[in-house]
Amino acid sequence: MPDNFDYDLAVIGAGPGGYVCALRAAQLGLKVICIDKRMTPGGTCLNVGCIPSKALLHATERLEEAKNEFESLGIEADNLRFNLARMMERKNKVVSDTVKGVGFLFKKNNVTARTGEATITAPGKLHVNGEKLTARHIVIASGSAPISLPNIEIDEQTIVSSTGALSLPKVPERLVVIGAGVIGVELGSVWQRLGANVTVVEYADHIAPGFDRGLSKQFQRSLTKQGLKFRLSTKVTGAEKTPDAVKISMQPAAGGDTETLEADVVLVAVGRRPITQGLGLEALGIALDKNGRIATDAHYKTNVDGIYAVGDVIPGLMLAHKAEEEGIALAEQLAGHAAHVRYDAIPSVIYTQPEFAMVGRTEEALKADGVEYRAGSFPFMANARARAIACTDGAVKVLSCAKTDKILGVHILGPCAGELIAEATLAMEFGASAEDVARTCHAHPTLSEAVKEAAMAAYDMPLHI
Ligand code: FAD
Ligand code: NAI
Repeated sequence: MPDNFDYDLAVIGAGPGGYVCALRAAQLGLKVICIDKRMTPGGTCLNVGCIPSKALLHATERLEEAKNEFESLGIEADNLRFNLARMMERKNKVVSDTVKGVGFLFKKNNVTARTGEATITAPGKLHVNGEKLTARHIVIASGSAPISLPNIEIDEQTIVSSTGALSLPKVPERLVVIGAGVIGVELGSVWQRLGANVTVVEYADHIAPGFDRGLSKQFQRSLTKQGLKFRLSTKVTGAEKTPDAVKISMQPAAGGDTETLEADVVLVAVGRRPITQGLGLEALGIALDKNGRIATDAHYKTNVDGIYAVGDVIPGLMLAHKAEEEGIALAEQLAGHAAHVRYDAIPSVIYTQPEFAMVGRTEEALKADGVEYRAGSFPFMANARARAIACTDGAVKVLSCAKTDKILGVHILGPCAGELIAEATLAMEFGASAEDVARTCHAHPTLSEAVKEAAMAAYDMPLHI
């Protein structure tokens, strides 16, 4: 280790894990540099992930409302059309304004931002585009990249990852999505709303893996009503490009005859892999876990002193807010404070219509662990606000400990589920019981009353059903 360092902290990667870690460390008085090989900060999330996908989901959701709901609301909008180029322009502007915001925050907090590929050459030492730098602490926040399947090569033209699917120049007539996980249903919804005939092929026998199974069935019914088609328990085995179409080969997941499906565009959405190449990890002997993610201790330290890692590149949910919480906790620890992340209270949200959100454990996980629990549900059909805004699909489910009534998990399928889950997350963060939430006054008429009623159902009985 050198004695004098150029920086207290060098962060590799300016995604939600890295840029937030850099900002927090600078706020706490450290001299910080944040390096990213992308021209613009913000990582996957701001450039090709959360933000552009939500901009397109928003635009297409408005279109869907205008097409299917306006008439019943007494609104007449004739000759409804959309302009894909304008929609993409707006999405690009949302992205460019948001990444500029990160640049502004770097300046405001005196974080040095550098564009270039960083390699760690030794503890405390890095190369960025041939330039040598030293830093007392190095944080790897290199994130993740899409994966594909054997025999399927992504060209971002006709066989695309989420990145290509965020910028298709025209609406494909037939879109096949491989994987009914988060990306599959979010981006599948975007293109289905714009007129594509979308078939989602999924290996498992249900969509949205990891979410509540019962609500996932309702979720599938809602998406099917909107026009998405699902082929479950089906494994895609290859894709062949022909001049007219991409031919996708698939088989029953349990084995059987191969079938072919034709598409104009194929979206491969079968997960993401951590980015661990190009960082010099092998030469340093930095240990990876069995899934190829960087192994750290509870304080985000790798097996090499002075080198830490956060975000998608380490184990756990691949979510922006998980990466951010880790970045903040690590920055605070490096500045001499105590900090930690509550991993049992990290929400997950799918931003479709209806939205699907969860925090904590699922019933399936509780059963598998033999935990005795109570479940209380409340459907949005019985919620006055949901009826007033004509969004009655879905329900709230609260799971609480049978002995102590402590909330163990909350699952919401319905309007604004991504916002409603914040109350449940806060409740879990504070170790609240179902009765605590049930006895809290909720404004009327709001969707949040459904959370209160589900909590009432978990510890006693609901009122409005
Ligand atoms: P990233 O954001 O991946 O950032 C890592 C950065 O490191 C990159 O910019 C990369 O260029 C840089 N880098 C890598 N190696 C080097 C190197 N050697 N030198 C210099 N720079 C390097 N999450 C949510 O929570 N909500 C959502 O709604 C959501 N939507 C998503 C939609 C899509 C389509 C996708 C693909 C992802 C979405 N995610 C969402 C996931 C989210 O984007 C990631 O969890 C998050 O970006 C992870 O943050 P990170 O900082 O760990 O890594
Ligand atoms: P995912 O892990 O959510 O889903 C992948 C799906 O592909 C699984 O259901 C899997 O069973 C299926 N699959 C795998 N191989 C298959 C095959 N051969 N044939 C058919 N199906 C197959 O991964 P996804 O959707 O690519 O998203 C990656 C990550 O990005 C997510 O884990 C999430 O963390 C993040 N993300 C988060 C968002 C959010 O928070 N709203 C939005 C988009 C992405």
